[in-house]
Amino acid sequence: MSVITTERQGDIFVITSNNPPVNALGAAVRQGLDAAMDELAGDESLKAAVIRCEGRTFFAGADITEFGKAPVGPDLRQVIDKIEASDKPVVAAIHGTALGGGCEVALGCHYRIAIPSAVIGTPEVKLGLLPGAGGTQRIPRLAGVALALQMNAIGDPIPAAKAKEAGLIDRLATEGQLAEDAIAFAREIAYARPLPRASEKQAKPDPQAIEDFKAKNARRFKGFDAPAANIACVEAATRLPFEEGMAFERQEFMKLMMGVQSAAQRHIFFAERKAAKIDDVPEDTKLREIRKVGVIGAGTMGGGISMNFLSAGIPVTIVEMQQDALDRGTGVMRKNYEGSAAKGRIKPEAVEKAMGLLTPTLSLDDLADCDLIIEAVYENMEVKKELFGKLDAIAKPGAILASNTSYLNIDEIASATSRPGDVVGMHFFSPANVMKLLEVVRGAKTAKDVLATVMAIGKRIKKVPVVSGVCPGFIGNRMLSQRQQAANAMLMQGATPQQIDKVHTDFGMPMGPFQMSDLAGVDIGWHRDESRIESIRDALCAEGRWGQKKQAGFYDYDENRRPSPSPRVAEIIEEFRAKSGNDKRDTSDEEIVERTLYPMVNEGAKILAEGMAQRASDIDVVWIYGYGWPVYRGGPMFWANTEGLAKIVAGLEKHGYEVAPLLKEKAEKGERFA
Ligand code: 3HC
Repeated sequence: MSVITTERQGDIFVITSNNPPVNALGAAVRQGLDAAMDELAGDESLKAAVIRCEGRTFFAGADITEFGKAPVGPDLRQVIDKIEASDKPVVAAIHGTALGGGCEVALGCHYRIAIPSAVIGTPEVKLGLLPGAGGTQRIPRLAGVALALQMNAIGDPIPAAKAKEAGLIDRLATEGQLAEDAIAFAREIAYARPLPRASEKQAKPDPQAIEDFKAKNARRFKGFDAPAANIACVEAATRLPFEEGMAFERQEFMKLMMGVQSAAQRHIFFAERKAAKIDDVPEDTKLREIRKVGVIGAGTMGGGISMNFLSAGIPVTIVEMQQDALDRGTGVMRKNYEGSAAKGRIKPEAVEKAMGLLTPTLSLDDLADCDLIIEAVYENMEVKKELFGKLDAIAKPGAILASNTSYLNIDEIASATSRPGDVVGMHFFSPANVMKLLEVVRGAKTAKDVLATVMAIGKRIKKVPVVSGVCPGFIGNRMLSQRQQAANAMLMQGATPQQIDKVHTDFGMPMGPFQMSDLAGVDIGWHRDESRIESIRDALCAEGRWGQKKQAGFYDYDENRRPSPSPRVAEIIEEFRAKSGNDKRDTSDEEIVERTLYPMVNEGAKILAEGMAQRASDIDVVWIYGYGWPVYRGGPMFWANTEGLAKIVAGLEKHGYEVAPLLKEKAEKGERFA
């Protein structure tokens, strides 16, 4: 069956797309729309047309899988031009998500009608692109510069009601009655002339709005190419005639499309979706039902984990050992919610709604009715095994028992229960209510339906779940530890924490290794014996330099947590270097990259070869969503491809690293990580 079908409702021509799952505007859809417009023009008896979609959404954009391949005509701009040039009115009937090219098709129509639940937007910037089929030229002409900047350069879609207020949509339809309402609308305006065409409108210059927008978002846009290009196109719309604006948009679009940033961002779009799939777990695996969740530990982690479920409307029972710790933990959760409400991120009533779903308790026995129990207690194998032994006796049959451990062996934890198939790792990243990554650790005996359920619940609480095998530190922290070791070693040759950190922040990371230590706590995992000083870290800890929380770590901090280089830390580092007998020498930024980032790629290759990650792109997703690797560099394995695997191997060898066989083999064969 053709993806575009047409039917006549009296003198109204109804053009319907049916291209699951999201009605992407692939070649067949474009060809069908093009032919339908010819038919409309050629048939005297037709007076107006409606363009609508079957399935879950109006066109969600150009077909991203076609990018980088040989173009097949007609291109989307030609189709949209033809729609707009029609001398019979065309109405777009919008439901679901009219995104990117889909939004642009709608704006090329003379009229737009949408149901209230629909959203409309141009998220291309999130793929390192700009709306390249007129979106940057038609939105400012219809809705003004300020909204066009917001929609194009930030990329978040807006609800139908807001779009109507702004002039992007003409009418709201009744939910469930879109086709009928759109046909009635088309009949109403069938003879109205002149036809409203976005391209014929004028966009008012607003240099102040552009300046304000740039200033407000400078931090958010740092390192990215696409936002500036989007802004330049919107500005051009206020200055150039439509045709010239379109030419400028085209030129900027092609520049972005050929660039490495967009390739990286498109890679992550698909990588994130692929990560949700587990090779040997069928997609139709029957899931266990999760109606109630138990969380053990009301500290920072346990509280953050609980908030994810509460925000998704899932009741949580939270357990602590002492009343004061329990009160403190739930108090922090409430404060976090109230903070979000004060900043307008959630509705005021959402605070009580979430907190009302929370049951604090001091008794593990209260977890008996939970479908999923997540342990977030002290990182100690004996403690965890004892706890899982108790849970085995308390939890109902079929309950999933999860550990939030960040490096301990899940199989050993599972061995403390009589039901290892129900045991799994759910490794959240701090702050757990904010960070999007969820490492789902698959034990040797973890049941397939347990895995599938945890992946699904991860998505429900708006995380990006990635499966990892059992190995120390799993995917993320295992690679992180390579970076930290190398960074520590470079201090011993005279590099400073600030120099090493700056290379990482210039690369686009939110922070470098020592800034991260200070934030997480320099004392994490410290032996707590002040007389035993075997490393720079031990020396810092012994002096109470535990990081930001003590206003002193690798950096000194003022009362607003602003860092400055620490003379005392410089002394400590110098003492250790002198004792080690290492010579002091200059360290170039290039060496820092080679010695901190290349070893991460090397470890990634080992993780892949051992089957600890299913695919290289899963590793990229871990680093983007768990550690803030810049998305425009596509994650460490994608970045390694762009850097060149042979160059990475040479760099590792130069610094005396043992190169992972998989990395070496790929470099020798001239291959890339898939
Ligand atoms: N092209 C090709 N495939 C697409 C696609 C697109 N534009 N959008 C989604 N898909 C695929 C996904 O890869 C996924 O495939 P899979 O099932 O094989 O993994 C499937 O459709 C379903 O997608 P989601 O899992 O994301 O479904 P959701 O219901 O969660 O979300 C959505 C739906 C909000 C539409 C989301 O898919 C989305 O944001 N899509 C991208 C929208 C976008 O960026 N549009 C702009 C494209 S660029 C463009 O239009 C250029 C133009 O200006 C010239």
